[in-house]
Formats: sequence, C-alpha cells, structure tokens
Amino acid sequence: MKNTSVLVSLVAAFGVVAAAAQTPTLTIDVSHPTAAVSPTLYGLMTEEINHSYDGGLYGELVQDRVPGTGFGRLVHWNMVARGKSQVSISADQTTGPSSALPRSIKVSVTSASADSPAGVENDGYWGFPVRPHTVYTGSFWAKTDAPGLPVTVSLINDQTGATAATATVTNIGSGWKEYKYTLKTGAVATSMNNHLVLTVARPATVWFDLVSLFPPTYDNHGNRIDLMQKLAAMHPSFLRFPGGNYLEGDTINQRFEWKKTIGPWVDRPTHRSPWGYQSSDGMGLLEFLEWCQDLHMQPVLAVYAGYSLHHEHVNPGPALEPYVQDALDEIQYVTGGTDTKWGAERAKDGHPAPFALKYVEIGNEDWFDRSGYDGRFAQFYKAIKQAYPQIQLIATAPVKSVRPDVLDEHFYMTAEKAFSDAHHYDNHSRTGPKIFVGEWATREGSPTPDLQAALADAAWLTGLERNSDLVVMASYAPLFVNVNPGAMQWAPDLIGYNALTSYGSPSYWMQVMFAANLGTQIVPAHLQNAGPRVYVSATRDPQKRKLYLKIVNANSTAAQVAIDLHGTGKVGAQAVLTTLSGKTPNATNSIENPREIVPVKQTVTLSGPNFTETFAPYSVNALDLTY
Ligand code: AHR
Repeated sequence: MKNTSVLVSLVAAFGVVAAAAQTPTLTIDVSHPTAAVSPTLYGLMTEEINHSYDGGLYGELVQDRVPGTGFGRLVHWNMVARGKSQVSISADQTTGPSSALPRSIKVSVTSASADSPAGVENDGYWGFPVRPHTVYTGSFWAKTDAPGLPVTVSLINDQTGATAATATVTNIGSGWKEYKYTLKTGAVATSMNNHLVLTVARPATVWFDLVSLFPPTYDNHGNRIDLMQKLAAMHPSFLRFPGGNYLEGDTINQRFEWKKTIGPWVDRPTHRSPWGYQSSDGMGLLEFLEWCQDLHMQPVLAVYAGYSLHHEHVNPGPALEPYVQDALDEIQYVTGGTDTKWGAERAKDGHPAPFALKYVEIGNEDWFDRSGYDGRFAQFYKAIKQAYPQIQLIATAPVKSVRPDVLDEHFYMTAEKAFSDAHHYDNHSRTGPKIFVGEWATREGSPTPDLQAALADAAWLTGLERNSDLVVMASYAPLFVNVNPGAMQWAPDLIGYNALTSYGSPSYWMQVMFAANLGTQIVPAHLQNAGPRVYVSATRDPQKRKLYLKIVNANSTAAQVAIDLHGTGKVGAQAVLTTLSGKTPNATNSIENPREIVPVKQTVTLSGPNFTETFAPYSVNALDLTY
C-alpha cells in the first residue's frame, strides 16, 4: 500500500514526462517554413571507376577497342583459327590510323578458306549482350596487304557457337580507313555469353583499330538505356564530372586532359585511369555534356587544378598558367558561342548550341596536397571570375586567400557514423561559403550497399534536407559498378550491372524516394520521445499545398508516431505512404535478386491534422499529404 502511494505520487509529479516517454511525437509547424530547399539539392557524381563508363554507362560493347593501349599487349583479344586455318595476332606498335592512335592489332593469316576462316575475337565487357530483333551499329578502322579483302564480323554464342548476327564488310584497302557495319539479330534468345569475331577467308595480313559495336542507346547519344532510365528516376538536378580521382590522375600526365577527349575517336589517344585500367575516352567532355542535356541536369564541371594523386603538383605562378588557360578554354568549349575559338570547336564536334554552366569546381580533394591548395585555388579563382563573373566557384578544401562561393565536403562513413552524424549541419555557421557534399556514402555492403547502409544514408540525408539552405548540392559516390569479378575497385556503389541487366541498391531506391518527395521549403519538424535511430525531415510545397515527411526508423521494432501538424487547417483525408524496408539490416539487392528491397506505395487515411502512423522496422518512409 505504501509502495503504491509512492508510485501514485511519482506519476502525479512526473505524469507528463512518463506519458510522453511512451508516445513518440512528431510536431510539424507547417505554416512557418524556415528556408527554401535548394532546387539543386540532389544530383549525381561520376567518374571512370568500377567500369562506370567503359563497360558501364557508355554503350560501347568492345573492350579495348583501341587494342594494346593499356599495357602494350592485347588483353581482350584472342586469335580465331577455324578448321585448318593458321593465324597469329600481335600488338603492332609501328602502325595505327592516326598520330593519336599509332598502334593497332596485326592479324597475320597464313592459311584460310571459306570453310576455315581465321581472324580475331573480342570478349567484350564480360560478354556481349545479345537481344532478339535488335540492330547493333558497328565500325572499325583497318588496312591490309591484300587490297579488296572482305572481313566478316559476327556475334557468336560462347557456349553453342551459334551465330546471333553477321555482316560482311567488303573491299578493305591498303591504307588506314574507317569501315561501318550493322549487325541485326533475329529471333535469338537473350544472352550475354557472346563474343565478337572478325574473320577473313583467305591468307592476308590485316591491321585493325577502333573496333566498335553499339547496341541501341538512350536518345541515340551512346549511353546504355537501362542505366539512363535508372538515373532519370533519381530526378538529378546536376552532374559532377569528370571526377573524383579520375580528374586528377595518378600523375600529371594521366590527368583528365579534356582536349584529348573531344572530336572523332581516332583523335582521342585514350588514357590511363587512376583506377587501374585504360579509359577509352569515349565518354569525353561533349558526351558528359550531352548526358547532362539528356537528363536535364546542370553540369558541375570539375577542372584539373594542378594536383595529381601521387603527390605531383604544379606550383602557383607562371608554372600553373597553362593549366589555368586550359580551364578557361574548357569553360569556353562548354559555354562559348560559335564565334569563339572553343565554341566553334564544339560546333565542329556536332553541338553548336552552348551549354549553361553555373558551377565550376577547382580540383578534387585538394586537402591531400601537402604543398598547399590556397595559391592554386586563388589563381584559378581570379582568372575564371574575371572572365566569367557569374560562375560559382567551388573549392575542394578550405582556403584563406579568397572566399570560395561553395566548399565541397566529402563523407565516407560507417553506418554508425552516419547515424550519429545525421545532425552534422544543424548548427553549422551560415556565414561562410555554401556547402556541396560532392561525395558521400555509408560504406557497408558490396558491391552495392545493403539495407543497413540505406537506413544510415537516409538518416544522413534527412540532415542535408533540413539544412538545404546551406547544403546547396549533394551527390552519392560512387554511382556505378560493373559487378563482374575484377571490374570493381571501390565498394559500395549505388547501381550495379553486368552486360545485360542492372539493379538499384536499397540506397538507390531510398534516394529515388527522397528526390521524388521533396518540397520547396523546409518546415520545422520536432521529434520527441522516439528513442534512438529515428530521423525525420519535413518540406512543403505551398503552390501544390503538399507536405512531404521523411521518417527513417532504423530500429528492429515498429515506431508508432503521433503526428501533430500545426498551421495546416484541414488536411486531405488520403495520403500516400511509400516505404522501403526489409526483414534484416543486411538484406540487399543483387544482380541475381534485384528487387528484394524496393519501395512499396500505399494510401493511408488521415483523421485530421493529428494522427498516428506506424513505421515498419528497418524502414525508410516518405509520407506525402495535402493540406
Ligand atoms: O568515390 C571514390 C573516390 O573517393 C573519388 O574518386 C575521390 O574523390 C574520393 O577519394
């Protein structure tokens, strides 16, 4: 009795606290937005890593289309000797179709006939994708010591030896020339276990270079359709390119030299990427810009700023001048009229209309440069601002000598860190440069992030949304991975694929949800008594009279939250709740099981501006309601 009365008085004294502890409450002041949501908050960051372009987004199917550039030997090329034919192949360093491509593959056929053809084959990017009733567009450069020679090109199944499509290019000449061909499949089965074969039916020596084959691509601009569609679903507002470390190269000579990535392929020498393989540079400056155009993204152009990964750097002052000029030329190539030198060059490359350019980033992760970034940044800043005062300049590390417009900060985190740091920008100073979170990711899961990583990523993103007056742009990295063994250098990556199919990771789907359910103004959201690992953000669109709530429940139990909307008046009786969830934190998607974790939509009925909603264990939720 005595104990009970103590309890009663304790409840009387702390009743409110005790009751509140039992009821997680989310209070949202819809009528008092605190700031505008940055219209460029969500975008993409990309570079040539994990076969992101070659063997990824860039539709080329022939691996090492410029044979022997990487290691001076033939890596993805093998000889083909059918029946009694005899052939040898080698990387010929003495002849090629241009000064940019001075080498080629030499195919020496000493015996061959129609029944016993001989030649060379390419294994593609872990196979060639073959689909029924499809037109593939091909080309190659060649010359021969037996002018008039026909060359047969075929797509052949690795296992059955069946020909999926074939074409013959007649009359190869004795001088270097480009030849085009088309392969059309009929009612073949879809498969990726195929290779491309080029053969001749009589003795001859033939040299090949730039052997190419493309499937149909997105808007015929050369990019893989399934991957472009996946990106479009993310509603990206910008594309940061060309890197990342890929911009810098291991050495100054291996930087992304944009002038060597434009114009006809035969004038692009290709270059070594810091991620351990040769880049074809098929994805060159203009292709990046057209990619932006296709997905209505604004380019965030990163210019090489005099620092490469093996600690090579260029001192500010006269030595840096040519690099600054190169950046100015690059900006002119992007934005200049056809009456300018580099604008005219862009028109010659097939794109007379200039591109709009608001952001230029100077370097990448220059905090690694122990010699100091300040002087280099200032030199670029002054020259670019003088020529293009309207362009916003992004620094990649804090600098003192000039004030950058935007500072790029990168975060690669454990899930634990992402959860605990979800409030990173809540109390950040608003008097300095705006922030671009140019690379961020929870590094759990391989090759793509698992559900735990997606939950942590979502928690982290609620913090960026809440602070998007300061954080003007954010992009996950890396974006892509070819999931074949040996193709990946970095895990996890947002979207995985092989030659034939692709899938979005749980974090991909979470980002699709976040970008699709975003208002134009931030509204205060106050969460009480929810315990750890529940995260929220709230935005509204006053024009559409829509309120967008994101609720992340990273716990193993459901969260029942009393939601209290202030300042809305009536709310629509029906709301849409989109949920991404799974049974365990390590649940994931894969190339074999691509849709284990995908968002599910349901309509929920609201009783008014005060209602209770239950959020599943391990879930990311977007609740859209009308007010
Ligand atoms: O995203 C992978 C790498 O991480 C980027 O190339 C680099 O900028 C960062 O260190």
